[in-house]
Amino acid sequence: MRVDGRYFRTLWPRGARSSTLCAIDQRELPHRFVIAELDDAAQTAQAISRMLVRGAGLIGATAAYGMYQASCEGQDLRAAASLLIATRPTAVNLRWSVERMLRAADEDRDLYSEAMAIADEDADWCQRIGEHGIALIRDIARRKPAGEAVNILTHCNAGWLAFVDFGSATAPIYRAHDEGIAVHVWVDETRPRNQGAQLTMWELMQHGVACTLIPDNAGGHLMQHGMVDLCIVGSDRTTRCGDVGNKIGTYLKALAAHDNGVPFYAAMPSSTLDWSIGDGVREIPIEQRDADEVLRARGLLDGRIVEPLLAPAGANAANYAFDVTPARLVTGIITERGICTASEQGLRDMFPESVRLQPSDSLDVDNV
Ligand code: MRU
Repeated sequence: MRVDGRYFRTLWPRGARSSTLCAIDQRELPHRFVIAELDDAAQTAQAISRMLVRGAGLIGATAAYGMYQASCEGQDLRAAASLLIATRPTAVNLRWSVERMLRAADEDRDLYSEAMAIADEDADWCQRIGEHGIALIRDIARRKPAGEAVNILTHCNAGWLAFVDFGSATAPIYRAHDEGIAVHVWVDETRPRNQGAQLTMWELMQHGVACTLIPDNAGGHLMQHGMVDLCIVGSDRTTRCGDVGNKIGTYLKALAAHDNGVPFYAAMPSSTLDWSIGDGVREIPIEQRDADEVLRARGLLDGRIVEPLLAPAGANAANYAFDVTPARLVTGIITERGICTASEQGLRDMFPESVRLQPSDSLDVDNV
C-alpha cells in the first residue's frame, strides 16, 4: 500500500533482528501519519490493547514480534504468550500467531525469522484473497451497463491497515480497481471507534478508489433501492461451521443483505479460522470495551484532536465490540485458497489438513 506515493507495510523491524518494532499509529489516522517505535514486549502488548495497532491480521503479526522481543529480553515465553493473548480476546489470529511462536521456540527455531514469516504470510495471503475475490466483482461488472460502477458495501476496516498489507475485504476491491474495473465502496462509519470513517476511507482514498462514507444505519436503505451489488466484510474469528465474528454491526448488515438478495461475503486468511469451535454465537468471546468510546466522539477541531461528550453526563453505555453473523446469512468465504461456502464442509474441503486440528492441539498458555 502506498501513502502519499510511498510504499508502506503496517509494521516492520527498525533494522534486521532489531528488538524495536515500528508500526503506524492508527489512533492518529486519518489526521496525522505517525510511526511509533515499540522497544520491548511490554510496549508491544500495550500497543495492541490500546489499539495503536488493530485489526485481526495485524495484531497477530504484532504479537508474533512481541514474542521475539520477549525472547530477546530473556522472558519466560509462556508467560509472555499469556500476556499477549490477553490483550484482545476476539480476534483469533492473535492466539494463532503466539502459539506458532511458542512452537517455534519449543523446536529451537529462530524466532526473528518466524515473526517475519508470519508477517510475510499475512501479506501474501491477503494478496491471494484479492486474486480470488476479484472474480465476484468481475462477474457483477459484466452484468452491469457499460461504465456503471460495481457498488460494494463494507463495514469497519478490513483493509491493509488491519493486516500487514492489502487487507482482506479490501484486497479484491484494490485488485479490481487496479485492473480498471469501475468500483465504488459504501463505507460504514462503524461506531463507536469509527474505523470505517477514519481508516477505511483514508486508505481507499490513498489508493484512489471511489468511496462514500455512510452512517452505520444507512446500509439497509441503500440495499432496498438497489444501490449495493455486493457486501464484503472481514472477520476476527470464524468458526469451523462458518459463523463469522466481526465488528459490531456486521450482523445487521447481513440481515439486510439477506432480506434484499444482496450477496454477502466474508474475506479472511486461514489464520482467522477457529477450528476448535462450531457455534459462533455461543462460543466466540466478545470483547467489551470502555463505555467512553460510545459516550464520546473523537475528531479534529481547529487542528486539535478533541473528544466531545455526546450523551448526557453520567449516562450509562454498553460497548460490545463484535457480533456474530450466523453462517446461513453468509453467501461465501473468500480465503487465500479460493472461495467456499460458509459451512463445515466448505471450509474443510478448502483446508483438509485442518481436520486433524482439535482444541487439544493448541498449546495451553491460558493457565500459566
Ligand atoms: O477492533 P478492531 O478495529 O481491531 O476490529 C477489527 C476490525 O477492524 C474488524 O472487525 C474487521 O472487519 C476484521 S479485522 C480484519
